[in-house]
Amino acid sequence: MGRSYVITGGAGFIGSNLVHSILEAEADAAVTVLDRLTYAGNRENLASFDGDPRMTFLEGDVCDLSLVREVLSSAEPDVIFHLAAESHVDRSIDGPGAFVRTNVEGTYAMLEATRAFLTERPREGFRFVHVSTDEVFGSLGPTGAFGPASPYAPRSPYAASKAAADHLVRAWLHTFGVPTIVTNCSNNYGPRQYPEKLLPLMILQAVEGKPLPVYGDGGHVRDWLHVDDHCAGLRLVSERGVPGETYLFGGHGERTNLELVRAVCAILDARLPSARPRSGLITFVADRPGHDRRYAIDASQTERALGWRPRIGLDEGLARTVDWYLENRAWSDRIAYRRERLGLGGSTR
Ligand SMILES: NC(=O)c1ccc[n+]([C@@H]2O[C@H](COP(=O)([O-])OP(=O)(O)OC[C@H]3O[C@@H](n4cnc5c(N)ncnc54)[C@H](O)[C@@H]3O)[C@@H](O)[C@H]2O)c1
Repeated sequence: MGRSYVITGGAGFIGSNLVHSILEAEADAAVTVLDRLTYAGNRENLASFDGDPRMTFLEGDVCDLSLVREVLSSAEPDVIFHLAAESHVDRSIDGPGAFVRTNVEGTYAMLEATRAFLTERPREGFRFVHVSTDEVFGSLGPTGAFGPASPYAPRSPYAASKAAADHLVRAWLHTFGVPTIVTNCSNNYGPRQYPEKLLPLMILQAVEGKPLPVYGDGGHVRDWLHVDDHCAGLRLVSERGVPGETYLFGGHGERTNLELVRAVCAILDARLPSARPRSGLITFVADRPGHDRRYAIDASQTERALGWRPRIGLDEGLARTVDWYLENRAWSDRIAYRRERLGLGGSTR
């Protein structure tokens, strides 16, 4: 019998790619997805496994402790990958409450349910893998990189809620013996990312000849990692990771937002020639409040510990990603996102 996985947030961007990665590689795995199907969750992301007895999809909320307990009792996981979250910084500025609820209370419920599950059925080799972000470490200057010992300094409600969750995850290891592992990853890109995020938004806007809104001066630096490389790393963490350890994933792919958008334009100009270069569509718009200037990851410790390296270079990965969105226009057409500007801090929810 293969391993049993519970994946929360498995209908979202990274979660669905993780489900694909596991079920394509492990013929006898069993995957139970628990996802509330918020605006960011998309059942279609898992459609290729409809009817596959290896996958069970459950629509439900990670904050619902009794539901999570039932899910764990029936799935009997060897591994929990906890990805369910509110994930968009701009939305956390407009409505932070949902972030505290899902990211903090939801993680608490997942940990409590896991603690109860392990009391009933102690399991050799069980792992709770909490998927977090480099944003918990705050903003860097022009040099340096985050490492596993970097201090926490979150600056957005999203980052603060993820940081709080990371602390809970470590506390449940030290206090209750739940074998937890925290991973912190840089910006992911790839197929099936909700089109409010920078890369799919820019691709879709550019294809349609619409303005490409770049925040501030476009000089904000992110370290881009292809989602397939992240998923490969997460699977290695579940196999070789040591409880209590922190694993950082980065792509050796630092770019300013402006460089990234220009690269997307160049790929599209080559794929779909237009009268004028699409970089002419770039429009500088008001910056995000508190916008972190630079993130960078030093993943060398993770690379040594897991034997992991990102395999997909940014140029190749960007071209593949642009091609995916071009070939899957029906996927984005069915998402009712109006591509409006978010995150200017209008409400107090
Ligand atoms: N996208 C990135 O670049 C990145 C980088 C590092 C870490 N992460 C982390 O990885 C995880 C996944 O990110 P993503 O980009 O795939 O996010 P996403 O927004 O695409 O997906 C989140 C998923 O969680 C589900 N969800 C939300 N609230 C829920 C709830 N209360 N109960 C159950 N399900 C719920 C949504 O329906 C959705 O399917 C998040 O925890 C995020 O913090 C993301």
